[in-house]
Amino acid sequence: MTVVDDVKARLDIVEVISQRVPLQRSGNSYKANCPFHQEKTPSFHVFPDRQSWRCFGSCATGGDVLSFVMRADSLEFGEALRQMAQQTGITLPQRGQSTQNEGAHKINEDTRAFFQRTLATAQGASAREYLEQRGLDKQAIEAFGVGLSPSDGESLKNHLVREGYSQEELASAGVVRTGDDGVNHDLFRGRLMFPIRDAHGNLVGFGARTLDGSEPKYLNSPQGPLFDKSRLLYAMDRARTDVRKEGAVIVEGYMDAIAAHQAGFKNVVAQMGTALTEFQVDEIRRLTGKMTMALDQDAAGQAATLRSLDVVLGNFQTKTTNNPGPDGATKTVDADPRIIVMPPGQDPDEVIHRSPSDWSKLVESAIPAISFRINAITSQGETESPEGKARCVAEAAPFIHLLGGGIQQANAVELLAGNLNVPIDTVKAALSRPSVARRARRPDQPRPAGTTASPFAKLDHDPMEEHCLQLLLGYPELRDLAGGLRSEFFQRHENREIFTRWLDAGPGLDKDGTLASVKRDGDDEVSGQLTSLLEKPLLPLDVNGRTASFMEVASRLEERNLKNLKSEEVKRFADSPPDIDGGEHDEILQLNRQIRKNEGLRRGQAQEISG
Ligand code: UTP
Ligand code: MN
Repeated sequence: MTVVDDVKARLDIVEVISQRVPLQRSGNSYKANCPFHQEKTPSFHVFPDRQSWRCFGSCATGGDVLSFVMRADSLEFGEALRQMAQQTGITLPQRGQSTQNEGAHKINEDTRAFFQRTLATAQGASAREYLEQRGLDKQAIEAFGVGLSPSDGESLKNHLVREGYSQEELASAGVVRTGDDGVNHDLFRGRLMFPIRDAHGNLVGFGARTLDGSEPKYLNSPQGPLFDKSRLLYAMDRARTDVRKEGAVIVEGYMDAIAAHQAGFKNVVAQMGTALTEFQVDEIRRLTGKMTMALDQDAAGQAATLRSLDVVLGNFQTKTTNNPGPDGATKTVDADPRIIVMPPGQDPDEVIHRSPSDWSKLVESAIPAISFRINAITSQGETESPEGKARCVAEAAPFIHLLGGGIQQANAVELLAGNLNVPIDTVKAALSRPSVARRARRPDQPRPAGTTASPFAKLDHDPMEEHCLQLLLGYPELRDLAGGLRSEFFQRHENREIFTRWLDAGPGLDKDGTLASVKRDGDDEVSGQLTSLLEKPLLPLDVNGRTASFMEVASRLEERNLKNLKSEEVKRFADSPPDIDGGEHDEILQLNRQIRKNEGLRRGQAQEISG
């Protein structure tokens, strides 16, 4: 039995959930108003015999006791496990990589001090001038630890070696790079250095701005377990307290964040040059229900920005924030994500330096993210024909359904109706049509954090899931085929976590880069599983073999998920037959159809391959 199974076996899902949500008995199961979205009739069910929960309403997610705690308390998998383990009196194995990380943090601190000293020397004269011209004052430069890397490419390495660090340590901290000559050189040369800290203040890497126009404009520390852009928000270590008090404001660049802090806007953090991820959104949501994103005018309509927004709407909008107040009691805050579209050609850095009060006005005039998203849909789609209007409604439906039934939803419906020039009631009717409602809560929906279908796997491991992960980790090109695979198809937490990390690593990395990103500093349950996956020999398959094998296992995983969904639906109706309406019956029929289609597809594939 793994630690995860052990912890779960000692918990009763009904007891854990009822500590957070008042449950009502209903036949052999329990129900409640869903804690993850607003509703008036209970669609949240807990099944003691399966030790699982599911929301049949607009969240359409479910899982086991751990995924419930993750969602309800806004915890990552490792944290939820630790918390639950503590409750059951199980001692978890120590985190494996933490000492190695401490070493790297220390190298980074020495590096930062070295860069700061360099900035203060004669070598730093023109860099200091540049900073002055950009409007950064002495305190801000000091507070953010801004420095300069020498341009000779050897000074830092020599300094750190004199301090007693080995070449391996320097390489694993990411401050040197092995050249073609096989020798280590400084990674950063002649650049303005911005130390980057995680939310706890650990120095995890650097952003390095060019001073002579060379590309790239910013060179960042290598992506890896230590420096993981998908989990970092620049300046969060300094912004935390104010974010809690006033809500978060998210800007795009390091320079924007520093300018904001210098002017006294201390609730500002910066993205890391990538789209916002679920982790980042969750991190903010743990602190506040209010987040405002400043978007560059050019970027505002672009696909990457819209995806980032979908992550926000899917993970921030719907969940209320449980924020421990000063007395330690939790208070519930409404989620209120907003968007500022910057005036053309301007960025926060310029606006703030020119006029702090203009910046305050911009922040105050931010519009709800949902309105921005609806406007993007209707301005990019065709809205004249009835079909075009229907497509826009269907596209907006997932976001509108996620809002629950409150005033925010009413406003969103009104905006959509106005943009499409149709009566509000027509839009409402279209939104509640089963085909649209179902689309609103099925695969195209942003992936909710940590969900599972059937929690109690009988085995210590799950061969199907492992095979799938082995293929994905072994053959990077399979990523192109993995679009339909969702984290909730993985029932074992360690596998789901590995899959989620693999997904987050994104298509840009090669095999080793992906592996490094998946490996990151983590829990032993996850790294142990990863090691065993990597050690297991993978059948040497040619391209066709890999593809076929992957398609097969992916469709089996999907099918298993559908079957689980179905059996939960059946249970729920067995317990409370009265509220079935046509739409819900429809739902089961739809599941059945999907399962049959899946089986059919697989048979077809098998024939194609064997024949
Ligand atoms: P910007 O180009 O807006 O940077 O990129 P900035 O911080 O405002 O810098 P200035 O004002 O031009 O000096 C926004 C962010 O995108 C990432 C960095 O995090 C940067 O702060 N970025 C940008 C990179 O990582 N690499 C790049 O080459 C460019
Ligand atoms: Mn800028």
